[in-house]
Amino acid sequence: VGWYQKKGVCVANNDPVRIGVLFSETGVTSTIGRSQLQGTLLAIDEINEAGGIDGRELVPVQYDARSQPSVYATLAERLILQDRVNTIFGCYMSSSRKAVIPIVVKHNKMLFYPTLYEGFEYSGNVIYTGAAPNQNSVQLAEFITSNFGARVYMIGSDYIYPYESNRIMGELVLQRQNSEKLGERYVSLNATEDDFRVIMNDIRRCSPDFVFSTVVGDSTAMLYRAYAEAGFNPKTMPIASLTTSEAEVAQMGADVAVGHFTSAPYFQSIETNANRRCLTRL
Ligand code: ACM
Repeated sequence: VGWYQKKGVCVANNDPVRIGVLFSETGVTSTIGRSQLQGTLLAIDEINEAGGIDGRELVPVQYDARSQPSVYATLAERLILQDRVNTIFGCYMSSSRKAVIPIVVKHNKMLFYPTLYEGFEYSGNVIYTGAAPNQNSVQLAEFITSNFGARVYMIGSDYIYPYESNRIMGELVLQRQNSEKLGERYVSLNATEDDFRVIMNDIRRCSPDFVFSTVVGDSTAMLYRAYAEAGFNPKTMPIASLTTSEAEVAQMGADVAVGHFTSAPYFQSIETNANRRCLTRL
C-alpha cells in the first residue's frame, strides 16, 4: 500500500499506478514491437492478478510510436507530462532509445528498455533488460567461426545498433585464424528485395564463410528471401544474426529461415513447463 500525508497523518493510498507503454504497432519494426507490447501487457496482467504493487493496480498508458525515433521522443514527453507516469516500458531500435533518454533524464523518470543493445552507453535513468554483447555477440561469434570459418560479410540497417554491433562482431571474428572482413554494407530501414539483390551479387563474388546480418524490422524478411532466391545454401554459408528473432522468422516463413543462426537469452520454442505456461497465457 502506498502512503500519503494528510494533516500530519500517514494514510494508505490505493490509487492505481500508471505505467507508460511505448512500442511500435505500425511501421517497419511493428512485428517485433507488437510482440514486445504483448509481453509487457502480459507482465502487467500477471502483477495485477497477484495483487498489484503494494495493493495498487498497474494501469498501462499505451501509445503507438510508429517506428520513428522522433515520435518516441514526443510520446515519451506526453506520457511524463500529461499522463503523469514515472516509468516507461518501451523502444526497440537503439535510435529510439537514444531519442527517449534525454526526455527521461530531463524529467528524472525511468525507461525500461527490453531489447538487445550494443553497449557503449550508460544512463542512470534506464534499466537495460535485453542482451548485451557479452550475452549474445560473443556466443554467436564463437559458434559460427568454429563451425563455418571466420571470413565474414556484414549487412546492416543504417542506424546506430548495426554500426556498433558490426564493430563488435568484427573485433571478435578478426581474432580467429584465417579471418577476414570481406564487406560491410548498410541499407535503409525500408530496404526492398531489390536492394538486397545487388548485395547478393557482391556476396557471390566475395564467397564468405558466413553473413552477419544486423538488418532489423520488415526488411529482414526481404534479406532472407533475396538470399534464398540467389540460390545460396545455409549449410555452407549461413546468415548469423542477433536481430532475427522468432517474430521475424514467423514473418518471413520457415522455408527461407531454416538453416540460419541466431543467439539469444530466450527462445519462444524452449520446451519447458514455465515457458509453455507463459505462451498459453500470452
Ligand atoms: C537494436 O536497435 N537495439 C536492435
